[in-house]
Amino acid sequence: MLPPQLSGIAYGGDYSPEQWPVEVQEADIALMLEAGVTLVTVGIHTWALMEPAEGTYDFDWLDEIIDRLHAAGIQVDLATPSVAPPAWFSYAYPSALPVTRSGQRLGYGARQSICPSSPDYRRAAAALVERLGARYAGHPAVVLWHVYNEYGAPQSECYCDTSRAAFHTWLRARYGTLGALNQAWGTSFWGQQYGAWEHIDVPREGPTAVNPAQRLDFARFTNDELLACYRNERDILHRLDPGTPVTTNFAGTINGKATDLWTWAPELDVVANDNYLTAERADNHIELAMSADLARGVAGGGPWLLMEHSTGAVNWQPRNIAKLPGQMRRNSLAHVAHGSDSVLFFQWRASLFGAEKFHSAMLPHAGTDSAIWREVVRLGTDLRGLAEVAGSLVRTRVAVIWSWPSWWALELDWRPSADLSYRRQLDLYYEALWREHVTVDFVAPGADLSQYSLVVAAHTYLLSAEEAGNLAEFAASGGHLLVSYFSGIADEHDALHPGGYPGALREVLGIGVEEFHPLRAGETIMLTGGHTGQVWSEPVRSAGAEPYWTYLDGPDAGHPAVTRHAYGDGVAWYVSTELTVAGLRELLADVLAGAGITRPGFPDTVELVRRHAPECSYLFIINHGEEAVTVPVDGVDLLDGTRREKEIKVAGGATAVVREPA
Ligand code: GAL
Repeated sequence: MLPPQLSGIAYGGDYSPEQWPVEVQEADIALMLEAGVTLVTVGIHTWALMEPAEGTYDFDWLDEIIDRLHAAGIQVDLATPSVAPPAWFSYAYPSALPVTRSGQRLGYGARQSICPSSPDYRRAAAALVERLGARYAGHPAVVLWHVYNEYGAPQSECYCDTSRAAFHTWLRARYGTLGALNQAWGTSFWGQQYGAWEHIDVPREGPTAVNPAQRLDFARFTNDELLACYRNERDILHRLDPGTPVTTNFAGTINGKATDLWTWAPELDVVANDNYLTAERADNHIELAMSADLARGVAGGGPWLLMEHSTGAVNWQPRNIAKLPGQMRRNSLAHVAHGSDSVLFFQWRASLFGAEKFHSAMLPHAGTDSAIWREVVRLGTDLRGLAEVAGSLVRTRVAVIWSWPSWWALELDWRPSADLSYRRQLDLYYEALWREHVTVDFVAPGADLSQYSLVVAAHTYLLSAEEAGNLAEFAASGGHLLVSYFSGIADEHDALHPGGYPGALREVLGIGVEEFHPLRAGETIMLTGGHTGQVWSEPVRSAGAEPYWTYLDGPDAGHPAVTRHAYGDGVAWYVSTELTVAGLRELLADVLAGAGITRPGFPDTVELVRRHAPECSYLFIINHGEEAVTVPVDGVDLLDGTRREKEIKVAGGATAVVREPA
């Protein structure tokens, strides 16, 4: 549920008035109105102001700020400040500071210096949220509650004694008996059988590889502890202010390995996501699209909120490259294209001090006589023109599996190759689909797949028997399944599916593999059709599948490299090496055609995404290239108000949003 008071595409960002004197705060409001700002997030890092000493509260300053915003008609996303406990807290409760895997207790002076299992932390956060919630419940300016800031990014795991005890409680709830735990963890290996819960350690650094099932469960436990911290605050806000939705902002594809968002999705009233470009990556608008599609997937296909992105450079990458003119506009509109009903930034006004003083903002250090400010004002106008897009839905027939347990397990110690990377593989398949103008939904491996024609499972290393059955059932009932190597290998405890590779997917893929043949660093191998593979090769044997491309050299010369298997009413494809984006696109041409999905055939610098409303649809045409592109349309470009009856020419770097009849 989006906040009912929001109308149109919300515009604004994180606002830290506490860093500025009152004259600046007053000037801020006037400038926000000039830019068309409608929503700001307040309070994220203000615990020390709200509660200057334990049990002593002061909200007068916050009243003033919220009242000032309200008087100007600007809505407030009010944050609980639990991401940054004050100095007095860490001094009084040093055991709430987190401990790293190598046993080092982290210090105070940053943010997120928190053990998520600490009862002192949870109690202190709850006490503050009780006050905050009671004070602002029903306040007409407060349309959304924002709990914490980016759970798990970067601080997630804690290996302290409190966490160890909480891990025991979690394990008892998961397994019931030590016998079940010993079985699940395969403790007969290296003689690790446990005879008492207290003997189980958190998987600290060991002299060599630590039991992978133990580490995988610790990742699940950490996710659940972070989620428990969220619920701890959310439940208070729901009780005190039942009419106002509660969210937390996800780090999504940026720093979001620790949080399995499929487990978070049902706990949020509205999904909020943050995204920052990898500044040095060419075509980083593709990873932006991926982040937005993931957010929409977590939102169950509905609209979501872009809670943070940047007007220009960030401050935390090795080289913080500024955005080029027009790039921020394309980035913002791309998030809207992929389903966001907001464009919010970190941050409203650039700080003069602190760790993030070199981070861009809507209002830069240079002030209003700046290119960024002019782009910010223009974007406000654009978004007013797109108000009617809010609430419309992206629909697609292509899904890509996103599995946090696969990500966690695949990257544990002692895998067949150090070159295996869950994200690189997902990015590769996503990029190839993006360049073919295919919009994708991200889904969990156990999701209902019946609305899709094509499902892609890249490096879905970990699949329970039920999840593998879900994929097989999808193909059997007419779907087209595309699976990359090192998928279906392990079950939910990181134990291998017996009988050879690719484990739980052998039957649906109609193949068998007896041994992995990882390649040397930098080695490439030739396939038929002039294609190349890298990282991996396999002696694929057909058990019903037809070869599509074959290895010409390398350890498996003569074996099929890519196969196609008619299975039930559908088809299952298997790719046993890492193709290039170009190779994958050639393969996709056939895979998509077989699944009945047409490729529009525009240059791969153009992004095309459609949002659907009951009576009409909105075609977003975002031209990331330098050449103009002409696209057939029949409708009105909402960004310039012109009617286009046959086609629209979108200049290099420009964007159009065309309303067409349904
Ligand atoms: C985000 C974070 C913000 C700010 C921003 C800088 O991850 O939520 O508070 O630090 O990064 O890019």
